[in-house]
Amino acid sequence: MSSYDVIIIGSGPGGYVCAIRCAQLGLKTACVEGRETLGGTCLNIGCIPSKALLHSTEMLHEAQENFAKMGLMGDAPQVDWSKMQDYKAGTIEQNTKGIEFLFKKNKIDWLKGWGSIPEAGKVKVGDETHEAKNIVIATGSVPSSLPGVEIDEKRIVSSTGALSLAEIPKRMVVIGAGVIGLEMGSVYARLGSEVTVVEYLDTITPTMDGEVQKQFKKILGKQGLDFVLGAAVQDVTSGDEGCTVTYKKGDEEQTIEADIVLVSTGRKPYTDGLGLSELGVETTDKGQVGTDGHWATNVDGVYAIGDAVTGPMLAHKAEDEGMAVAERIAGKAGHVSYEVIPSVIYTHPEVASVGRTEAQLKDDGVPYKAGKFSFVGNGRAKANFAADGFVKILAHEKTDRILGAHIIGPMAGDLIHEICVAMEFGAAAEDLALTCHAHPTYSEAVREAALACGDGPIHS
Ligand code: NAI
Repeated sequence: MSSYDVIIIGSGPGGYVCAIRCAQLGLKTACVEGRETLGGTCLNIGCIPSKALLHSTEMLHEAQENFAKMGLMGDAPQVDWSKMQDYKAGTIEQNTKGIEFLFKKNKIDWLKGWGSIPEAGKVKVGDETHEAKNIVIATGSVPSSLPGVEIDEKRIVSSTGALSLAEIPKRMVVIGAGVIGLEMGSVYARLGSEVTVVEYLDTITPTMDGEVQKQFKKILGKQGLDFVLGAAVQDVTSGDEGCTVTYKKGDEEQTIEADIVLVSTGRKPYTDGLGLSELGVETTDKGQVGTDGHWATNVDGVYAIGDAVTGPMLAHKAEDEGMAVAERIAGKAGHVSYEVIPSVIYTHPEVASVGRTEAQLKDDGVPYKAGKFSFVGNGRAKANFAADGFVKILAHEKTDRILGAHIIGPMAGDLIHEICVAMEFGAAAEDLALTCHAHPTYSEAVREAALACGDGPIHS
């Protein structure tokens, strides 16, 4: 038995970041992980492998669509699916080994196995029980399916199976036009699959800004994704010939055939086997671990962060909570600004947002102005065939304080952070507008949107 200041259960972005911060703050730290490699869903079967496939298929798309326009002649590359999978595996390995290196560097013990909490102050891993003054639950989430639909990860897959299909399907049905559905749907559409996305609501990416949703759907449509909106999937069956998806649109029941069906209708917290109910840890009706404003559960010395608790299921939200809870355990003032958590969809073009949407500001009765700038007026975007999209900044009508931003366009996932920093400093749109931006960069579109909140942009 070993004794620690902190034992973190789970080594995803929430858990491993928490462990590193605890160690940096002088706490004796261990992290429990039952998977063969560190990094959790994000590094092994989520963000990182999906970005590898998004990157390789985006390169393919560039070669097919734009190389000849730039005078780069020759046959477009052929897809070797098995090599693409090797590239993805290599990317995962580099990243998971990177966390292992950071654990060694920071003298964090990796307790290999699946952990449970038999009593406050104790963590059991395999046959061994360790003492911990503080325990952090960072066990993440798993895909949630639809009632009666069984995910076999072969024909009816979650994001996990979709990352490692045996072959590129001819026909794929994606259930749910959320982040996973659109990212993975894009990958397979670029690889030549006929992709149909069936979505319950009348819009794609339901939480996004309305104008972004419309433009996004149009762009994805041009890339070959078909959408069936306002359709509730009732049933999915699979046999030797493929799968049948039955959905209800209005009063009518219809079916679509597919080789592969991706179920991307959300995720649920994963806390199985921890022994939370025996320990008396309160959970919410959604199965999340209940916490106070500082990630403490109702049991002394037991904390929880990331997808296992309330809030958006995002790796970077978990990381921020990991750092903040480490700081609180070390007696410092850990804090997370929940109102400035960006969200990014890594399609082509990328979609990114932070803060409130126009619909939310209207609902909240906040007077606002919207400054919008199209990438058509951005020289760099035009040169790079990336002018399809815009930046929209929402600022308070009277104070000019930035309240939100919504970007669809090249590098949107990076551009959004300029606005996040501005929001953290309580900046006005004019502060961005008065900041010199290098030419020619995509970031000029952000400045122009800020200018559009005042006397007007220059290039539109
Ligand atoms: P999601 O919550 O983003 O989208 C699920 C969609 O499925 C919704 O639009 C919903 O209306 C639809 N739906 C639900 N039931 C349905 C039915 N019976 N028929 C048709 N449509 C139905 O969930 P998703 O995409 O599975 O992602 C899960 C979580 O993972 C999210 O919290 C997401 O933010 C996170 N994630 C984030 C990524 C990123 O930040 N780039 C990448 C991948 C996942």
